Amino acid sequence: MTDTLSITDSRTGGQYDIPISDGTINTMDLRQIKVLDDDFGMMGYDPAFKNTASCQSRITFIDGDKGILRYRGYPIEQLAEKSSYLEVAYLLIHGELPTRAQSEEWVHGITHHTMLHENTKKFMDGFHHDAHPMGMLVSTVAALSTFYPDSKAIQDEDARRLQMYRLIGKMPSIAAYAYRRRMGFPYVYPDNELSYSGSFLNMLFKMTELKYKPNPVLEKALDVLFILHADHEQNCSTSVMRGIGSSQADPFVATAGAAAALYGPLHGGANEQVLRMLNEIGSKDKVPDFIQRVKAGDVLLMGFGHRVYKNYDPRAKIIKEIAEQVFEVTGRNELLDIALELERIALEDDYFVDRKLYPNVDFYSGIIYQAMGFPTDAFTMLFAIPRASGWIAQWQEMILDPEQKIARPRQVYLGHDKRDFVPEDRRGEDG
Ligand code: SDX
Repeated sequence: MTDTLSITDSRTGGQYDIPISDGTINTMDLRQIKVLDDDFGMMGYDPAFKNTASCQSRITFIDGDKGILRYRGYPIEQLAEKSSYLEVAYLLIHGELPTRAQSEEWVHGITHHTMLHENTKKFMDGFHHDAHPMGMLVSTVAALSTFYPDSKAIQDEDARRLQMYRLIGKMPSIAAYAYRRRMGFPYVYPDNELSYSGSFLNMLFKMTELKYKPNPVLEKALDVLFILHADHEQNCSTSVMRGIGSSQADPFVATAGAAAALYGPLHGGANEQVLRMLNEIGSKDKVPDFIQRVKAGDVLLMGFGHRVYKNYDPRAKIIKEIAEQVFEVTGRNELLDIALELERIALEDDYFVDRKLYPNVDFYSGIIYQAMGFPTDAFTMLFAIPRASGWIAQWQEMILDPEQKIARPRQVYLGHDKRDFVPEDRRGEDG
């Protein structure tokens, strides 16, 4: 017996039984609901897709009310404690944790695709001295498409794997080049003897020493932060990755588009905005005044709120714990005290409680990045690097999904009906 949704159309008295599966209806089944036989048929209207499933997926599960996040069924808390970023990237893409042999092949493949074409330096040097690192990253990721035309073979499994090695391997290199360009330092090549996060720290912070030695606490903290940021189901940037990929464009230009979406201050750009907000507040005693501005609707409390989480973002809890470990090495960041006071007040205030606004992944991460020595405008790159594995996992799932085709939403047209062209001499101010 199939579950159905019974609909009565009061315009015609028509009765419809729409099949329900996985708790949803296929909105194409609404098209049979018409007034006149030649009508287009009923559509769903859902601006910003607040209540629309764009796909079926088996990668990431979120329960926003319970504050649950799982990658391929594994709780984020266990992965953060027991796994590594490259192992989690394998899990997201392949669906299972790797065996020792699979892991060695995966890590070898990624490690040996971390170098960038030397021409990258030429156009990286072309950016203005104070170019935002995300602008440089988005452009350079797109440029990978020009170096690797074989990436267009999106239906070829071996070709897809090679692009995954390249993308996951080169994201830290691109981010590091952008950072070094921003700081006016020479570029540093990857060090294949170091871990993924260790080699990244090397490319960022190596100066005149012959061999960079990453601080193991910071190296581990960065790897856990990468795990926490790796995927988050159908968020804005992932939807862009799937959308661009649905036209069969290559995965590099799709990733560039996804990174561009992540750059926005309401999405991954929030970690940068949190730091600017905390610096603007300046001290704990100024927090109440700022909260009043938020409640007046003048400003957003950056790093708070979420489309899905109506409870504490589980990633924020873990990041808060990481902060203490990092500060033992770097020294305590005073901004943490302001952030903790903001959280304390907000979690007691009806304005935030009524709207179910809790700290999200971006609220504490920026404080850690600043303590680790990153400039504020480099923070969103640190989100984009690990999210590349989530984007590519979602992209591949879309490519292999027989139900998927080019993304092309409809619209509710409210504009003018047919009208004739008006010569210029007869046009008035009101058109
Ligand atoms: C990420 O989707 C993902 O999974 C994203 C992400 C991922 O891993 O990919 O989790 C990463 O992007 C985290 C979010 C980072 N962004 C921020 O921290 C920016 C600040 N947050 C807001 O912009 C907002 O909370 C959003 C964009 C995150 C969510 O917005 P929604 O779901 O569209 O919610 P909304 O704007 O409809 O807000 C509901 C109410 C509104 O008040 P009323 O109109 O009902 O009076 O809550 C208010 C909003 O004004 N509100 C806030 C607020 N967030 C929502 N008020 C003050 N400060 C905030 N941060």
